[in-house]
Amino acid sequence: MAVERTLVIVKPDAVKKNAVGDIIRILQENDLKLIALKMIHMSKEEAKGFYIVHKDRSFYDELTDFMSSGPCVPMVFEGENAISKVREIIGATDPAKAAEGTIRSKYGTDVGRNAVHASDSPESAAYEIPYFFSALEIHSI
Ligand code: TYD
Repeated sequence: MAVERTLVIVKPDAVKKNAVGDIIRILQENDLKLIALKMIHMSKEEAKGFYIVHKDRSFYDELTDFMSSGPCVPMVFEGENAISKVREIIGATDPAKAAEGTIRSKYGTDVGRNAVHASDSPESAAYEIPYFFSALEIHSI
């Protein structure tokens, strides 16, 4: 198994629910190391750039409105198989379909307001991590 880095975002809905600490705790308890984090409030244009792969999808406008509606917390986690591991811990995109005990099941509201984002492949992690963090902001711990 390879050591990977993955981008996680606590989305504006979960920040408002005061869930940042609990989400970090859940990921750290699964042997994932927190190596970068910040709190930002994205502009609509910044949210559109982050989700550019979805530019032709029907939900693109709504998604980028939501992601720019309040502060969010991007973070980088590192660990064995981190990308698929985090996807499993956060659960399915639609919180109603997310397995019990997953982060989206616990904190998500609906398919749009689903509490967290996590990279879905090494290619997306390679785009998403430098979207928020410079090399100096990512740490070897
Ligand atoms: P997607 O990449 O399909 O899901 P995931 O976040 O699990 O990788 O979609 C990106 C985000 O777009 C998703 O987290 C929430 C939003 N979205 C909607 O608002 N409506 C939808 O029907 C879908 C599929 C996604």
